[in-house]
Amino acid sequence: MANDFLFDPDSNALDRLDYRPPEYLIDETDLHFDLHETETRVKSKLTVRRNPDAPEGGPLMLNGEDLKLVSVKLDGKDLDRGDFEVTDKHLIIKRPPEQPFTLEIENEINPKENTMLSGLYIPEQEEIFCTQCEAQGFRRITYYLDRPDVLSTFHVTVEADKEKYPLLMSNGNGDPTKTTDLGNGRHEISWDDPHKKPAYLFALVAGDLPYIEDKFVTRSGREVELRIFAPEGYEDKIDWAMESIKKSMKWDEDTYDREYDLDVFHIVATTSFNAGAMENKGLNIFNISLLAGDAETATDDRLIAIEAVIGHEYFHNWSGDRVTLRDWFELTLKEGLTVLRDRQFTADMHSQAIKDIEDATDLKARQFIEDAGPTAHPIRPDHVAEFDNIYTGTIYEKGSHVLGMMRTLLGTETWREAMNEYFDRFDGQAVTCDDFVDVMQEVSGLDLSHFRKWYSQAGTPELSYSGEYDAASKTYRLTLEQETKPTSEQAEKEALYMPISVGLIGQDGKDIPLSLKGDTEAGPTTRVLHLKKDKQVFEFTNVEGPVVPSILRGFSAPVKVMTKASEDELVFRMKHDSDGYNRFDAAQEYMAKVVLDMAKDIEAGKEAKAPAKLLNAVGHVLSTDAKSGDKAFVAKMLELPSYSILVQSLEVVNPDALLDAADKLKEQILDAHQGDLATIYQATITPPGDKYEVTPKQVGRRALHNLTLDYLAADKSDEAAKIAKLQYDQATNMTERLGALTALSELDKPETQAALDNFYDRYKSNTNIVDSWLGVQARMDGGDGLERVKKLTEHEAFSWKVPNKVRSLVGAFAAGNPRHFHRKDGEGYKFLADAVIKLNTINPRVGAGLVKPLLEFKRYDKDRQELMLEQLDRVKATPKLDKGIRELVDKALATRDGATKKGNEPKPSGGTLAA
Ligand code: TRP
Ligand code: ZN
Repeated sequence: MANDFLFDPDSNALDRLDYRPPEYLIDETDLHFDLHETETRVKSKLTVRRNPDAPEGGPLMLNGEDLKLVSVKLDGKDLDRGDFEVTDKHLIIKRPPEQPFTLEIENEINPKENTMLSGLYIPEQEEIFCTQCEAQGFRRITYYLDRPDVLSTFHVTVEADKEKYPLLMSNGNGDPTKTTDLGNGRHEISWDDPHKKPAYLFALVAGDLPYIEDKFVTRSGREVELRIFAPEGYEDKIDWAMESIKKSMKWDEDTYDREYDLDVFHIVATTSFNAGAMENKGLNIFNISLLAGDAETATDDRLIAIEAVIGHEYFHNWSGDRVTLRDWFELTLKEGLTVLRDRQFTADMHSQAIKDIEDATDLKARQFIEDAGPTAHPIRPDHVAEFDNIYTGTIYEKGSHVLGMMRTLLGTETWREAMNEYFDRFDGQAVTCDDFVDVMQEVSGLDLSHFRKWYSQAGTPELSYSGEYDAASKTYRLTLEQETKPTSEQAEKEALYMPISVGLIGQDGKDIPLSLKGDTEAGPTTRVLHLKKDKQVFEFTNVEGPVVPSILRGFSAPVKVMTKASEDELVFRMKHDSDGYNRFDAAQEYMAKVVLDMAKDIEAGKEAKAPAKLLNAVGHVLSTDAKSGDKAFVAKMLELPSYSILVQSLEVVNPDALLDAADKLKEQILDAHQGDLATIYQATITPPGDKYEVTPKQVGRRALHNLTLDYLAADKSDEAAKIAKLQYDQATNMTERLGALTALSELDKPETQAALDNFYDRYKSNTNIVDSWLGVQARMDGGDGLERVKKLTEHEAFSWKVPNKVRSLVGAFAAGNPRHFHRKDGEGYKFLADAVIKLNTINPRVGAGLVKPLLEFKRYDKDRQELMLEQLDRVKATPKLDKGIRELVDKALATRDGATKKGNEPKPSGGTLAA
């Protein structure tokens, strides 16, 4: 019985430490699909043997969900009724033979009714079959040992109606253009995947899809056929995706010595997909929002995201597919690593400084919130009820930063060597994070035992610093301190081992060469300090004159800097810090401080005014950097900190005051610098005849153009509406057109609705653009925001069955429209709870994603807390509540008492999930 580690009788949390190797292994998997919309017949023939490493050999428990069993044969003979048992989660073969045997299973599934989009399904708006098997979707296709440590070769035959589904595809090698006619209006084809893989990497697609083709020759000379398939109407918008594949393949060869290993590489896009994309071996499946796009139909940010996700899924071919994970608790092994790899890729294709800034900002806005809330978990979690719930910012992004720190500690060269060793040693195996760190440690000779705590400790470490300069001895003593607050399920925290990159800036604005006490010669101007204890002092020698410290350069560790620098120091660093990330961070810190102060004044009924010092510092950026410098960087320097970042500095959030303060700051910056902003706006207009390119130069220009427009619109003047309208009308690319529409959406002018209507009419056949249109309206500040969103749920452009639609409208409203979501009467919360309850039966995975803003109740005042809790209680009381939604809601509700009594203090508890 212990055979099935993922056996889950009563939906309680599973424990990482309960892992047991499988008692049976499947060496070969032969699948036959007879595709029909509502009755697909699946025949599987499995070659099974006992696992020598798990000598128990009890019953064989295959996972299965929503399946109709037709027949079971063992070694060619029908199994007697007494020899097997079917439950709603398993097919149990009670007494399997000692010797290897074959198991033949036939079952039926209904792809048409599969609105969960897990397993084999037909998307709402398309006539194709497609699959999603990660994490546990394969068991919704056929009975199987659906766990990542069971690796098998797959041979797949797909049969379908020839006319309706001319293309039939699965993993591995095959030619989708060469099928066998079966004579009865149906045809079939076989696919072979020579690489052993777990079932979560299985994929199948059938349909009539337009495609484009290309080739890539690997560095050892293997010719790879590349094809991208997209829904009708998108086939002329996938060239950028094709370029991105080729760049990814080349980059992984150059940077990680990883070569592609099949004759074909296929990507298929669909309009209904639960996530961004999926790395199925040789047959990646993508959400259309992350595949189709060109200058006219996608923004610069979107095109760069498409390139990044194509890279991400392609890089999984090694970090995930060739070397896979032992069990789902180890998810960061493949996701943290693959995110790190895609981050490096994007930095190499575009700009390292901008990428550092964006990744750090994203981590702070999304993951820091998660790490401080009721669902906080380590990057390698210990208890999980629903594995679909751990596709989080913590496992992906924080996981990637933990690996990034390891890379910093090892150095680039050693990292590469160690990564090669990792891939070689574990090729074809299912391994753990500990296995990974063992290799890093072995190859580098570093002791990483302390560093490993990053894998088991949740919560964001808080870093403080203080410096003391002694002119007589020319020494600068830098004290670094760290502390991690208790998180919802872990009361005790220990000091972590983290690389802190620092610089010291002299009075002339130049970095000074750094020598630590004991050094024989002066070192470089940026240095990585190894912080391992709660508190450590670092002594720098030969320091000429007082200095301004620049701490956590390049965001060298995923921590929160707590020390508040003085306004003068922030201004100084905004001007002089040689580290792009830290220069940006100084601006963010200063602007955040000012917005928070102004919000306090607004709450107290006082006039809220930004200090002249900040306005001058902004003026300096506008007058010097904007002219000489990097435009993308200037745009970043002028961006106000986001709502999600601002709320993290507050005991109790007052959304209206915070939003009003940010608006006021923007308006006062405009007031002080209208001339410069207008000049920069004009200077960043796209020159006529300019050929659109996604280069740092052009992307930076367009970013600064949109950003200055946003400032120019801060006074809500008729004049601003005219400028935005003109930009909207004359735009030759989506970046500028959507930028103008967004600016107009913040103005309550006749031009606003006119542009929204025009935008819809112009692009209604492109589902991705329509989603942007829904998103812009979901975030609109003016008017009755909730009513607007409710009305849009009735619009022809919306469907509850399409995840992108739900996320673009309902998700964007809850996470991106704090003013209306946090309405005092609680109607915003009620709307979100209604949506979650509705999705519970349609697509619970999307429902679970949507519920998250409600889990943040502790950040708000008592009245709002009660209203949010009321809705969480309603969700919890939903009949047949999905266990993933329930896991999240239960975690939040478990902290309720601490919340109503004491406000923001996290409640330390030993913590079970489903108490
Ligand atoms: N492995 C995918 C990725 O990160 C994530 C993913 C795709 C996924 N589809 C999913 C996760 C469905 C859970 C459910 O590249
Ligand atoms: Zn991934």
